Amino acid sequence: MENRKVRELLSAERIGKRVAELGAEIARDFEGKEVVLVGVLKGSFLFMADLARAIPSEHVLIDFLGLASYGDETRSSGVVQITADLTKPVEGKHVVVVEDIVDTGLTMAYLLENLRTRHPASVKLCALLHKPSRAVRQIPIDYLGFTIEDHFVIGYGLDYAQRFRNLPFIGVLE
Ligand code: IMP
Repeated sequence: MENRKVRELLSAERIGKRVAELGAEIARDFEGKEVVLVGVLKGSFLFMADLARAIPSEHVLIDFLGLASYGDETRSSGVVQITADLTKPVEGKHVVVVEDIVDTGLTMAYLLENLRTRHPASVKLCALLHKPSRAVRQIPIDYLGFTIEDHFVIGYGLDYAQRFRNLPFIGVLE
């Protein structure tokens, strides 16, 4: 682990440009409507901070929830637990889930189903990264940053054993 190098995959500049575009798209789609951005902790914390600032609207609410997905450090099992729930009900609200990466899709399949039982007006998914080659469940991603190959990526919120979340770019551990 200590000898592994980090190769940059997506620069901070590329991420910044794409996040600005996603923010503009969300702003257009929800013009005049209130929207609740629901960030999935911990991986989405930087993406959420940048995305929220890229939506020029006074009608944006921010909430977070925490999910723990059982599995080893690089693979999700699909058994998901809510470790911290939303602070407010989303009944009747337009919700956009803000997620770092959709890999197998198991975590988002669980969360989107869970949120729909709370009767929001709508639920959309905004994911920074998607690894389609690993999909077990097909999850429609309404707002997608980048499609990537089957690499384990770190940085910009994403971790390996809780490390590297603070990198300003997204890299591959080699
Ligand atoms: P899924 O349930 O397989 O789609 O996995 C979703 C979660 O696994 C993400 O929210 C991440 O926390 C984690 N994950 C999946 N792939 C990666 C990766 O390449 N780097 C870091 N975390 C990942």
